[in-house]
Amino acid sequence: MDLPAGFAGRVVRWQRTHGRNSLPWQNTREPYRVWLSEIMLQQTQVAAVLGYYERFLARFPDVQSLAAAPLDDVLALWSGLGYYSRARNLHRCAQMVMEQHGGAFPRTAEVLQTLPGIGPSTAAAISSFCFGERAAILDGNVKRVLTRVLGFGGDLALGANERALWDHARSLLPARELRENMPRYTQGLMDVGATVCVPRNPSCLLCPVQEQCVAAKQGNPQDYPVRTRKLKRTAESLWLLHAQAGDGSVWLQKRPTPGVWAGLYCLPVFGSRDALEEVLPAAARRRLRDVEPFVHVLTHKDLHLHPVQAVVPPEWNAGEGQWFGAGQWPGLGLPAPVRKFLENAG
Ligand code: ADE
Ligand code: SF4
Repeated sequence: MDLPAGFAGRVVRWQRTHGRNSLPWQNTREPYRVWLSEIMLQQTQVAAVLGYYERFLARFPDVQSLAAAPLDDVLALWSGLGYYSRARNLHRCAQMVMEQHGGAFPRTAEVLQTLPGIGPSTAAAISSFCFGERAAILDGNVKRVLTRVLGFGGDLALGANERALWDHARSLLPARELRENMPRYTQGLMDVGATVCVPRNPSCLLCPVQEQCVAAKQGNPQDYPVRTRKLKRTAESLWLLHAQAGDGSVWLQKRPTPGVWAGLYCLPVFGSRDALEEVLPAAARRRLRDVEPFVHVLTHKDLHLHPVQAVVPPEWNAGEGQWFGAGQWPGLGLPAPVRKFLENAG
């Protein structure tokens, strides 16, 4: 595979005029802000991140304040963004920066990726944005762009192919004026992937690297990246007990770690309706109300959630957990679908 000459320069020039240049985490080289944005953007669209990013910075303006906060406060602010392991790692990472790095983020991708929640691509994004390090990113969007440009036909589920694409990604990096060019190049690749080289019907006519793109020449960008192994999706049904005391408080449990929704507060979860009924007093069991089930989509699994409402006496308890009044639970870290359910349940 011939490496396209002038690739980096084209991406850099295009980014200046056609890329995204006014997002709130751009035009800063402060590692704390860049790190926070990159973690939030890992599995989440820009539009969804904007509000969370502002609220998070208002509450935790620097790595010290985040490290010193209780994890529950961090999870509560994260509530609704999903992939909560990101929030737990964020908190641990802030503490490690304070304890092991004297409160200053490491300046190289190599050291950054030793911290919790920071993989090789996120590490390179931070070090190239903040310090102009010549480090390659390779997130899902960038994989799509590079496999198309190179006509790279290997299945990325195989480690050897993934490593080969990383090598290509490094060889395409800018070589000069890194402090200016690296942030632009990194952002430019992300922008091409997000706005031009999209999964279906990429806008090749508007693309800065069209002349060099093998897939565009072949007329088959959609065929990249090549996937030969299929991901098997599974489905699981869970029953959620919405137990209310007469005063409207709800019984919530903290979810165990590891597992779905680890560390968040949730209605008690059961694998069957029978198991749910077993924890209730007989009187409550006779007056259960089944609510319309809803589906929550995880990466590898569809969760079919079946809420069941029960009214129980205030001295009842489900073992673990506690009562939360109507004024209390909205401030807790709750899984988004559970929050939505409770809001609608009134
Ligand atoms: N996704 C990941 N990092 C990003 C960034 N810096 N800007 C826009 N989208 C992104
Ligand atoms: Fe993607 Fe088309 Fe640009 Fe190639 S020319 S990188 S397929 S948008």
